Amino acid sequence: MMVNAKELLEKAHNGKYAIPHFNINNLEWTRFILEECQKQNSPVILGVSEGAIKYIGGEDVVVSIVKSLIKDLSITIPVVLHLDHGSSYESCKRAVDAGFTSVMIDASKYNLEENIEITKKVVSYAHSKNVSVEAEIGHVGGEEDGVADELAYAKVEDAIMLTKETGLDFLAPALGSVHGLYKGEPKLDFERMKKIDDALNIPLVLHGGSGINDELIKKAITCGISKLNINTELQIAWSNAVRNFITNNQVVYDPRKVIKAGEEAMKEVIDKKLELLGSINKA
Ligand code: 13P
Repeated sequence: MMVNAKELLEKAHNGKYAIPHFNINNLEWTRFILEECQKQNSPVILGVSEGAIKYIGGEDVVVSIVKSLIKDLSITIPVVLHLDHGSSYESCKRAVDAGFTSVMIDASKYNLEENIEITKKVVSYAHSKNVSVEAEIGHVGGEEDGVADELAYAKVEDAIMLTKETGLDFLAPALGSVHGLYKGEPKLDFERMKKIDDALNIPLVLHGGSGINDELIKKAITCGISKLNINTELQIAWSNAVRNFITNNQVVYDPRKVIKAGEEAMKEVIDKKLELLGSINKA
């Protein structure tokens, strides 16, 4: 069943667990993730970046794939189809109009005033179609679709201002996590996370969820994190398994066998994350 993310995340926030956001890159990944979350009876957020939308073929293709898999695989868990890092109002509107149930507007590269203005416009349109909205304050560093950018920690007063002025549903404050692999240990600012949580009492989102150790993630959940975004760890698990398979099977040429070679490794990572976040049997 496709749902927006608001209620799911509020329930997780109150219950001190988190909902996994796994990025999808193609049809097979979507199937693997849905099957495993269904098996574990966990709600799931399927995150799709603008780059992945382009790669898959467009917003309508993404929506059709997700809807069709839910139907044909008899998926009954709550599934959120979420635009990850929408870069403009137009991009968010396209996703909403195609049938995404949730969008992220990432106007964090603009100043606070402009971030508020753009986010407000997205909230107004998305809410009129029952679509939930995530926004970002401060800036999560690392690589977004291959482009390196700088990390900037969110200020508590800016987080409060953005939320109060726009009516967003859940907030991604940049607090030390980065997309992709970490160089050294991540330096998460838990004190600031807790301050933002106490001031706003809305679900918070941690981007760059790959490569953060389990204890830090558990601590983040106690400080208000209700959605954890994971992409790189799935990419690494899948590509290592596929590389291994090809190396050991030099004559294989059936693409189904190649792509499927990463299935088990991906599902193992998914299981570990669901257990860590406490989302098993929360569907
Ligand atoms: P990782 O690739 O570091 O897991 O981050 C994913 C993410 O934050 C997507 O928005």
